[in-house]
Amino acid sequence: TGGVPVRLNVNGLPYSVTLDPRTSLLDLLREHLDLTGTKKGCDQGQCGACTVLVDGRRINSCLTFAVMLDGAEVTTIEGLATNGALHPVQQAFIDHDAFQCGYCTPGQICSAVGLLAEGRAKTADDIRELMSGNICRCGAYPHIVAAIEDVMR
Ligand code: FES
Repeated sequence: TGGVPVRLNVNGLPYSVTLDPRTSLLDLLREHLDLTGTKKGCDQGQCGACTVLVDGRRINSCLTFAVMLDGAEVTTIEGLATNGALHPVQQAFIDHDAFQCGYCTPGQICSAVGLLAEGRAKTADDIRELMSGNICRCGAYPHIVAAIEDVMR
């Protein structure tokens, strides 16, 4: 029926699916795998709510075709905590009240995890610049930057 087979790991679990080739990674996660922690804001690459990690790198899942990810390792907000312990970035977001409505938070946190892995941010200005793809309509930016700085230290 025109479906394309894809095998990929999500949060350490193997999945084998057959997809319409136009399916975004975001829709694969939310609609097919029931991983709804990743949010759909704009669906056009402009808000960052859908940010996840693919092979450790942060990407907008709404702009990524799932069929291109055969063999990839995807990590979503659901996969960041390990052995019942929050990821340090998750804990820092709580400690610093780095959210209000929370809709952008999974994307903010995944983006921050990717940013820290990149190792390019040295200052609060760097964080602001390198997190600029993640929009927060509530304006929690000062607390988000403070949370990320805290983990960076
Ligand atoms: Fe992907 Fe907005 S939903 S960037």
